[in-house]
Amino acid sequence: MKQRGQIIVAILILLDLSLLTHQQCLKRQATMRSIIRGKYKNALHISNGALISSKNEDVFVQRNSGSCLRDTIYEVNSSTGFMYCMQGFSISLKLRQKCELNTLKLWIWDRDNRFQTFQAYVKVGNMETKIYETNIAQSVVTIIFPDQFVEEFRIYNVAGNTYNQGLHLIKVEAYYKLQTNLLQ
Ligand SMILES: *[C@@H]1O[C@H](CO)[C@@H](O)[C@H](O)[C@H]1NC(C)=O
Repeated sequence: MKQRGQIIVAILILLDLSLLTHQQCLKRQATMRSIIRGKYKNALHISNGALISSKNEDVFVQRNSGSCLRDTIYEVNSSTGFMYCMQGFSISLKLRQKCELNTLKLWIWDRDNRFQTFQAYVKVGNMETKIYETNIAQSVVTIIFPDQFVEEFRIYNVAGNTYNQGLHLIKVEAYYKLQTNLLQ
């Protein structure tokens, strides 16, 4: 009888231990996933090491305060607070390191009611995949794409907007958006 009791206690301890290691394993997996996804933060922020790799084909108005990676996004008028490229050119945004993402947010210059035509691409190594195409974009555009690794985004100005041939950006953001039903 006594022996049987000891066996049951031993089994309970083993079950408990295996549950504990399983939980630790899940926790470690979640941490790894978070790192791979850029900790769910904006990977296209200057403080996260993002760069505008197309700078030589773009114009910054006014100089550094025109960078779309900055925070001072409410100082915008026709002569400050945005950057642009002309038709046939791109704005390319390189992450510090490869991240798994699913959302790209662009704030297009919107101090009139223009419609913008552009294409958006994701680049990994030499592979480029089109994730979005539009000729009716206005103001803030949120592009959701299937979860994938990203090294660089390229916003290609196909045909300007309904006022001129430019593609003018105030701000860009890219992150991994969790499905809200997982957060409930
Ligand atoms: C644009 O904003 C800047 C900074 O706030 C200001 O100095 C400048 O006068 C403004 N220009 C126009 C055309 O409103």
